[in-house]
Amino acid sequence: MLIFAHRGASGYQAENTLAAMEKALQLGVPAVELDVHNVEGELVVFHDRRLDSKSSGSGIIHLVSKDYLASINVKGEPIPTLWQVLELIAGRCIVNIELKGINTVTPLIALYPKALKQLGFTQEQLLISSFNHPYLREFKQTLPKALVAPLLASIPLEGAAVVSQLDAYSLNLDVSFINQALVDDAHQRGAKVYVYTVDHVDDIHALELMGVDGVFSNYPDRAMQALTQV
Ligand code: G3P
Ligand code: CA
Repeated sequence: MLIFAHRGASGYQAENTLAAMEKALQLGVPAVELDVHNVEGELVVFHDRRLDSKSSGSGIIHLVSKDYLASINVKGEPIPTLWQVLELIAGRCIVNIELKGINTVTPLIALYPKALKQLGFTQEQLLISSFNHPYLREFKQTLPKALVAPLLASIPLEGAAVVSQLDAYSLNLDVSFINQALVDDAHQRGAKVYVYTVDHVDDIHALELMGVDGVFSNYPDRAMQALTQV
């Protein structure tokens, strides 16, 4: 099973910050997950559409300026750009970039080849996910070999068909509704199944029995430890 540090090691450090990514690397994780928005044409790492509840600032993130973003913090930590996070990681683990905000495809198309050429990432180390499936389709049209992962927050009527529609590498599902039929359908279509957000050992063991290929955890060290317990 592949363990993703969800929003970095967010159980230990402010989520989606360089500190959370550094902590994840210290824990020896094989993968990290993060969320991106477009601020004045640049991808920045932050979860919410609004700044209010998770930062010292306020407002809608894609409507603020870079200067404003630089003046606020998340629990004392700066809000990083995606490039800063990728520079920090520099090919040392897999990075799952979730396109959370609007207008995030075009800047990612510009950044992706630079991450390969300048920062030492391989295509297999960059997984692009989103609940916004048209964004993934648009991204794949320009970069067909890139790995994409549709996110689902509810049970789809058509099973795992989205995997085939997007030529997806994985199907990323919410732990609250996952079922065996969906896992099997995704596997039959040639995709991995990754599940969010999983912080309890008993959930990890149950998902292992279902044949799930990976989980997102706020405490990735505990998840990795759980895998070693039979
Ligand atoms: O990518 C898995 C998970 O991060 C999706 O939900 O709300 O934590 O971004 P959320
Ligand atoms: Ca996310």
